[in-house]
Amino acid sequence: MRIGVLASGSGTNLEAILAARLPVAVVVVDRPCRATDVAAAHGVVSELVPWGGHGADRTQFTHDIVDALERHAVDVVVMAGFMVILEKPIFDAFQGKVLNTHPALLPSFRGAHAVEEALAAGVKVTGVTIHVATREVDSGPILAQEAVPVLPGDTVETLHERIKSVERRLYPETIREFLK
Ligand code: GAR
Repeated sequence: MRIGVLASGSGTNLEAILAARLPVAVVVVDRPCRATDVAAAHGVVSELVPWGGHGADRTQFTHDIVDALERHAVDVVVMAGFMVILEKPIFDAFQGKVLNTHPALLPSFRGAHAVEEALAAGVKVTGVTIHVATREVDSGPILAQEAVPVLPGDTVETLHERIKSVERRLYPETIREFLK
């Protein structure tokens, strides 16, 4: 099994996946980011497929991502903090084999601002959802969930870090089960 990881940011989930010795064949990023350095530090090749931002052709971008993954003969795609919405071509190319981690208990707080929105809503519990990604954003069959408390005085940063510390354990475990 060969995993392709998609990342856009600090890459701490990627670090946990690599530390768990999961078979990562390539890391694909849409912007310069720390995830590339994490890959290099583990001797894993990375590819930059630049996202053009608002108004860019999302379907063409998705084709470019699929091409990068296919160049490395990837079997399973793992989104680890990938912040661009992908279109149909990736779900056709890797049917039922695109995984995502989301920093909330889906179906609550879908989208790119899940931690901010949970804090603003005043919930006492939020969490982590690992799921199979489908065309509808932050939907698809749930593989694992774990609750994380919201504590008095939390900021977006402190709450997100508490959530990420759970993701870094739960995501590698769930990927390993999925590969079986
Ligand atoms: C994680 O919390 C992940 O759930 C979130 O980005 C963070 C990435 O952290 N993903 C999303 O919000 C996707 N919409 P990392 O770069 O340190 O792994």
